[in-house]
Amino acid sequence: MTTDAYIAGLPKVELHLHIEGSFEPALMFDIAKRNGIALPYDSVEALQAAYNFQDLQSFLDLYYQGMNVLQTEQDYFDLTWAYLTKMAAENVQHVEIFWDPQGHTDRGVAFEVPLHGIKAALKKAEAELGISHQLIMSFLRHLSEEQGFATLEQALPHRDAFIGVGLDSSEVGNPPEKFERLFDRCRAEGFKLMAHAGEEGPPAYVRGAIDTLKVDRIDHGNHCLDDPELARRVADLGLCLTVCPQSNMRLKNCLDIRQHPIRAMLDLGIAACVNSDDPAYFGGYMNQNYQLIQDGLGLSRAEIGTLARNGITGSFASPARKAELMANLEAYEAEAPKA
Ligand code: HPA
Ligand code: ZN
Repeated sequence: MTTDAYIAGLPKVELHLHIEGSFEPALMFDIAKRNGIALPYDSVEALQAAYNFQDLQSFLDLYYQGMNVLQTEQDYFDLTWAYLTKMAAENVQHVEIFWDPQGHTDRGVAFEVPLHGIKAALKKAEAELGISHQLIMSFLRHLSEEQGFATLEQALPHRDAFIGVGLDSSEVGNPPEKFERLFDRCRAEGFKLMAHAGEEGPPAYVRGAIDTLKVDRIDHGNHCLDDPELARRVADLGLCLTVCPQSNMRLKNCLDIRQHPIRAMLDLGIAACVNSDDPAYFGGYMNQNYQLIQDGLGLSRAEIGTLARNGITGSFASPARKAELMANLEAYEAEAPKA
């Protein structure tokens, strides 16, 4: 059995996926057309050619532009369903996905519209594809804490629809401390907490996410490795890092896959897992992300298994569902041909 085939068949979970980042150019053109919106590109190919990023901000500019065509519940349903059917084909059995409500409400789309469309697709996937899920509301960190509080107020009537909150968008210059009061409130409301930290920002931002925001999980976390004492602490805490290899390459946060930080994380015993972040923009869903680090780092099957286990353990699935996901993984490992 080739490693490609082994990875393709491996039961997987995804914990770091921005649903707006799964918006494939062909679907974007379809939805723009039905909503009577003109995209500033002539063709799918011209749009894809623009996906040539220098850093996080150059990606975010196109990411916000792309989501502008989403307007109706049906649009959000179609977006989410397209992602989930792909994940079923890759044997992804549990997903925890972010949405950015402020990216929609700020241009006049009611808070409920994305929420209802996304949730309907997630429920359909649970029933028809056997994919369990959690939904996470992410605050845009380039906006103010006050705007975050206003978004939280809009969200609270729907609190049962999502398990926690995240923090994304432009990292450098928007440290975790900017959102201390908002996260205190979210914690008091009983939400799980996570934050993007150490993607482009320094180790101090990872420390801020842990000590000030008191997160349950860190998205990316790569730069914790720049501070050995912090890296040791992340390992000792068993804090899950949702690492995104293809994203790191495409945003030039990693220049050589043979030097990708997930190698050091595994060696330090940090609970890293593999995720796709914004696959339509970065050119790879779950299988390709595993494949990329496998090719670059020559992972053993035991290491691939550790990454898959870290995803299950770090998830917010129920204990019963975690046990089921773990049993599926163990059965696969026991049965897959060795070579
Ligand atoms: N980083 C920060 N914000 C984001 C990302 C990311 O990779 N994707 C979507 N919003
Ligand atoms: Zn992300």
